Amino acid sequence: MRRYTAFSLLTLAILPVSALSGPAISPTSTLEIQDGQTGTLIVLPPQATETGLKKIPDGDHPFIAPGPDDQRGPCPAMNTLANHGYISRNGITTFEEITLGMMEAFNIERNLGAFMVASNMMTGGNSFVNKISIGGVSPLVPPLPGGIEGPVTSGIAIHGRVEGDASITRADTFIGDSRNFQEDLFDLDLLQLEKFGDNGPNGNNTVFNLPTLVAIKQQNFMMDQVANPEFTFPARRLGGALTDVAFILTVFANGTTTQATLPNISLFFRNQTFPDNWFRAASPVTALVNGEISGAVGAAFAVPPGRNNAQGVYVADPPPPAPFNISFACTSYYDLLGTMPAGLANTTGILKQNVELLSSIIFSTVEGIDPACNQLLLPFGPAATA
Ligand code: HEM
Ligand SMILES: *[C@@H]1O[C@H](CO)[C@@H](O)[C@H](O)[C@H]1NC(C)=O
Ligand SMILES: *[C@@H]1O[C@H](CO)[C@@H](O)[C@H](O)[C@H]1NC(C)=O
Ligand SMILES: *[C@@H]1O[C@H](CO)[C@@H](O)[C@H](O)[C@H]1NC(C)=O
Ligand SMILES: *[C@@H]1O[C@H](CO)[C@@H](O)[C@H](O)[C@H]1NC(C)=O
Ligand SMILES: *[C@@H]1O[C@H](CO)[C@@H](O)[C@H](O)[C@H]1NC(C)=O
Ligand SMILES: *[C@@H]1O[C@H](CO)[C@@H](O)[C@H](O)[C@H]1NC(C)=O
Repeated sequence: MRRYTAFSLLTLAILPVSALSGPAISPTSTLEIQDGQTGTLIVLPPQATETGLKKIPDGDHPFIAPGPDDQRGPCPAMNTLANHGYISRNGITTFEEITLGMMEAFNIERNLGAFMVASNMMTGGNSFVNKISIGGVSPLVPPLPGGIEGPVTSGIAIHGRVEGDASITRADTFIGDSRNFQEDLFDLDLLQLEKFGDNGPNGNNTVFNLPTLVAIKQQNFMMDQVANPEFTFPARRLGGALTDVAFILTVFANGTTTQATLPNISLFFRNQTFPDNWFRAASPVTALVNGEISGAVGAAFAVPPGRNNAQGVYVADPPPPAPFNISFACTSYYDLLGTMPAGLANTTGILKQNVELLSSIIFSTVEGIDPACNQLLLPFGPAATA
């Protein structure tokens, strides 16, 4: 059984931008064309200076429902940002746009946000042109140069890298729709809220709390482990599932009251919009802040990373090679880089600079959580099969 204490130690030093930026950029290196695509250097934006309570959305960001060609996907937060124009409404966005949009609308601290976008950019985006779809394959995001990922760039909905099994409101890919909100699954989550939730302005047992999150994750896991013969829950996905569910309390709650009420949380998941009169978190949501909740959920959940075997029995995954077996954080790090195509680590020019920047962002985050996890990795996994 893994230890989950790493989660409660999730901490990111406020690194100076210089610590995370890539090699020096010479002006002559900025125009580069490969396979007909123009490369774009990715730049890590600075932490926003205005970080207090703020009513969201502001007047410049009204809800507009997505059109038929707009990409939406498995992340309620990305869908909400796009529905309000905090990122491109067509769902095709960039590293910088998502990082800035998360800071503005959700008060996600810069380094935590950059870590999440970097992880998704190298598993589902095009790190050469700096474009990512918050849904599936799009004609607006070209394939990576040199066939690194095969004929298409998948989008964040690609199954088996960041997106995975035992989600709160999406079905396992083997079972059903792993991309869009599923009312029936959300209703099952709400049964746990009815049992464990706190009392609040909308009635008894209507406010999400830690026991509710634990019960939801236990239920998601138990149902899918039984119903999905291909059930897979590797370290990166276990860590992601705990991170995601904790966001209900740290990000979706009303920043003024810190309450995560049933009608408000439903709007984020079901309608992918902000409740009226909603305030973002009162201070930046760092990996430490969210890690305190995700760590507590993980400790109570107490399931090791693993997968079903041919008999449908859940079997723990073997530990990664040393030194990555020292902690859950380091195990997840190895697992995550191992799901990114190795071709990304064998490039030149702008793509090489971007991959080095994104890899260093991920590494800095993990090293902040577990300083002993001090060996930088570049992507070393297989190309996408789909
Ligand atoms: C504001 C910060 C964020 C919040 C509050 C957030 C929240 C969530 C939540 C609650 C889920 C779980 C959905 C479910 O299990 O039904 C989720 C899933 C997901 N998110 Fe986000 N997210 C954030 C940032 C991001 C970013 C920056 C990306 C990528 C660019 C991303 C990609 C994903 C993906 C791929 C999933 C699917 C995981 C799965 O359930 O299999 N998220 N997110
Ligand atoms: C809500 O809970 C309180 C405290 O347990 C109780 O006094 C009250 O009767 C409950 N209200 C309803 C509507 O059930
Ligand atoms: C959000 O929750 C509050 C209670 O904290 C409630 O009064 C309000 O009606 C909810 N907003 C929406 C849009 O559901
Ligand atoms: C949220 O979605 C539900 C179901 O689609 C709809 O009935 C409801 O009117 C929506 N609420 C808001 C505030 O958009
Ligand atoms: C958030 O809390 C503030 C302060 O109590 C309140 O005015 C506002 O209506 C609340 N918003 C929601 C969405 O619950
Ligand atoms: C990690 O693996 C090495 C080599 O197999 C082993 O000696 C070491 O005890 C392992 N460390 C942990 C913390 O499991
Ligand atoms: C790196 O890429 C070059 C050019 O595409 C190729 O010839 C070489 O075999 C690759 N090296 C590795 C280790 O994959």
